[in-house]
Amino acid sequence: MLTLNHEMVQEACAYIRGKTSRSPEIGLILGSGLGILADSIEDAVTIRYEDIPHFPKSTVEGHAGELMIGSACGVDVVLMKGRFHMYEGYGPELTAFPVRVMKELGVNKLLVTNAAGGINTSFNPGDLMLISDHLNLTGRNPLIGPNDAAFGPRFPDMSEAYSRRLRGIAKGIAEEKNIPLQEGVYAGLLGPNYETPAEIVMLRTMGADAVGMSTVSEVIVARHAGIEVLGISCISNMAAGILDQPLCHDEVMETTEQVREKFLGLVLSVIPQM
Ligand code: HPA
Repeated sequence: MLTLNHEMVQEACAYIRGKTSRSPEIGLILGSGLGILADSIEDAVTIRYEDIPHFPKSTVEGHAGELMIGSACGVDVVLMKGRFHMYEGYGPELTAFPVRVMKELGVNKLLVTNAAGGINTSFNPGDLMLISDHLNLTGRNPLIGPNDAAFGPRFPDMSEAYSRRLRGIAKGIAEEKNIPLQEGVYAGLLGPNYETPAEIVMLRTMGADAVGMSTVSEVIVARHAGIEVLGISCISNMAAGILDQPLCHDEVMETTEQVREKFLGLVLSVIPQM
């Protein structure tokens, strides 16, 4: 297992600092098909992941693989266009490495977004879901190994993984702007296959409202580092077995494309209030 140390984080951070004088306090991670937000970043410095020391490379279609530092609605942000998934072969500590780097850059609030399958049958493809909590069902954990106290505590609290304060802000804005917003529990699985119908029944029984293959390791590391988290899922499809049709990545990308205006409207209003 690769152990990520503080020096590696500092080297990545030093490289990024050499490209920009901004000190972002808000980090944004964009999921499949949700990269549109990147177009709203002003005066952006764009850095390819492959150029940043110790950064893994993104390999999935629909995930760009660039870090952007700039201004969104007047607020300095660092944005990940595309993320790292464990199904690509990366260990959980590597998928969450950029969150460590964000923390080192000064980030104390993180907005994570993803595309997810809807498990709750009252949801529809195209819905946005505020993540109230998650189930880490990956069987992996980015904090395994020696704990570096400079990063955070050995046994971090997860009782408010997704900030109540930030959820309140997002709900208020959604109401104000008339953007329908569901709320629910995100189940994070390893992937890369979509679930079986039996697995979806199991996940529903466990209390999950949506399912995806990302986010949980990033949020665990963010909470370990004391970063406040807001999570928004785009329900890109109904999960396996709910509708009589197979699941495919094209559908995921098409749906996220269709909700881009709604997604942008919400997120761009939330950022300045975070
Ligand atoms: N399952 C898992 N991950 C996903 C799905 C799904 O149905 N849709 C988008 N990401």
